[in-house]
Amino acid sequence: MEQFVFFGGKGGVGKTTVSCAYALKCAEAGLDTLVVSTDPAHSTADVFDQAFDDDPTAVEGRERLWAMEIDPDEEVERHMGEIRRRMNEQVSAAIVNEIDRQIELAHRTPGAYEAALFDRFIEVMRTADDYDRVVFDTSPTGGTLRLLALPDFLEGWIERLVAKRTKSVDLFEKAAVGDREARRKLDEDPLIAHLQGRKERFEFAGRTLRDESAFFLVVNPDELSIRETERAVAEMAEQDLGVEGLVVNRVTPAPDEDEQGRGATWLRDRVATERERIDEIRRAFDEPVVAEIESRVREVKGDLLAAVADELAIDADAGSVEA
Ligand SMILES: Nc1ncnc2c1ncn2[C@@H]1O[C@H](COP(=O)(O)OP(=O)(O)OP(=O)(O)O)[C@@H](O)[C@H]1O
Ligand SMILES: [Mg+2]
Repeated sequence: MEQFVFFGGKGGVGKTTVSCAYALKCAEAGLDTLVVSTDPAHSTADVFDQAFDDDPTAVEGRERLWAMEIDPDEEVERHMGEIRRRMNEQVSAAIVNEIDRQIELAHRTPGAYEAALFDRFIEVMRTADDYDRVVFDTSPTGGTLRLLALPDFLEGWIERLVAKRTKSVDLFEKAAVGDREARRKLDEDPLIAHLQGRKERFEFAGRTLRDESAFFLVVNPDELSIRETERAVAEMAEQDLGVEGLVVNRVTPAPDEDEQGRGATWLRDRVATERERIDEIRRAFDEPVVAEIESRVREVKGDLLAAVADELAIDADAGSVEA
């Protein structure tokens, strides 16, 4: 299995549960494992009954397992602050206010949120040498994945900028013969350096997502969840990213044959409907179903987490899917 493993899926399908269960499975298989969550509701904290923050913290009572929670709002705030600071350094005071206003507006678009989070994901991937496996609770969505096309776009832009700036520096040098200062300034041009840095980050992200990452989608046996999964698979394919497998979560257990009564009848009907959906999943997707996890009576945490981990046929070592 790749170093980075992502679990995506519609809201509430069980991404956090499955991510934590898989992370536990990896840790118990002897891998130093970090689970990274971006859930504003701090569900990872619920699963492990422990508070986490922005820095990896050892999960109490478990060996080789660390967790961190990225707060998306904080991340957007930090991201925007950074942009504002850089702008302020480079433009005249007169237009700073206007820029601030624009940044404030951009901040409210959903894309800003995703872009800020994606930036943070890249940061985690860049500094993950200490871990054998990093499990991301949430995979990048279509909007974010389109950022992977950014390097090509930036490439052309940077080239044109460098050409323009070189020309103006040349003119400047001709006017002030022998002034090496101008040439040095071009090499250190903060705008070009910034764009270059950005381009390299996204190149790194594209490479890492394609070569060192595996993606799984969590799906519930219902129509909406299946449609969402189809969309996610298509969006990822657009960026040359394959989905390794599907985790079907919240499968209703069937009552015993001899059980009668209203509850048992309801359950039997429910099980039959879900069976149809699961058959559809197996038929409609090329990606294999790597687990069918039963609905538990209670939230999945504590000992239940280990039980769910056992149901995941996702390799915790080298290679890929077990079955
Ligand atoms: N198989 C299951 N049996 C019983 N409860 C489950 C199961 N899977 C998930 N749950 C419970 O359902 C709730 C939602 O699950 P979870 O938080 O994992 O979903 P999510 O996809 O991460 O949600 P979000 O999109 O809000 O981040 C949690 O309370 C979790 O304990
Ligand atoms: Mg979650």
